[in-house]
Amino acid sequence: MPRYACRQYLDSLARLGDVEAIPRFEEISARLRRSTRWELVAVPGLIPDDVFFRHLANRRLPVTDWLHKPEEADYIVEPDVFHDFFGHVPLLFEPVYADYLQEYGLGGLKALELDALGILARLYWYTIEFGLVVERSGLRAYGTGLLSSKGELAYCVESQSPRRMHFDLLRIMRTEYRIDRFQDSYFVIDSFEQLLRETRPDFTPLYARLARLPGYAPDADVGDDALFQGVTET
Ligand code: PHE
Ligand code: FE
Repeated sequence: MPRYACRQYLDSLARLGDVEAIPRFEEISARLRRSTRWELVAVPGLIPDDVFFRHLANRRLPVTDWLHKPEEADYIVEPDVFHDFFGHVPLLFEPVYADYLQEYGLGGLKALELDALGILARLYWYTIEFGLVVERSGLRAYGTGLLSSKGELAYCVESQSPRRMHFDLLRIMRTEYRIDRFQDSYFVIDSFEQLLRETRPDFTPLYARLARLPGYAPDADVGDDALFQGVTET
């Protein structure tokens, strides 16, 4: 993690207390409430979309309470407490990220009404779960699916095989994803401020447009993609 996780994540990890121990939700919830007005809600597993979005919209993070088996450390398809707690919670101490996740919840409720959840889910996938951010020292992971994967955390930064593109809202909303293997494509943000700024516009017209356009395969090479070229040291 010191090598691949983003700065804000590493800075906040200490606030989880003893990371070798079983997490105490009440304790962290209280700390989070004081810090960014978020709190944790324990849930047994995946919950219905509208319930999930309503929690986020009210600054409540659903956290599952079961733990994966040792042989599943590289990839689990359903979130467990390791993913939810050690992955999602630390970044909630970051004020801009904290606001983004609430906005996402509000956006989810809206997307449900507009029948556009499939499109919005791609944004969640390519940012909150598998997002990369560029820092002065290079690429770093802020996506929780990356932070909780022993294998993909190094892969997403180091491997030559995946496509890495600069954040592009429309491109993301058209890009399909696979949930059962390492990602073929990643999107790189400059900052959480950029993420919040670029997702602020009303998505209603975008949903209408995208409903008529075909999706891109997870590994698609789309002519005018802005590929991420690495960091030039200054
Ligand atoms: N601007 C989005 C909308 O109109 C809301 C949103 C914000 C969705 C941030 C996701 C992330 O639906
Ligand atoms: Fe997750």
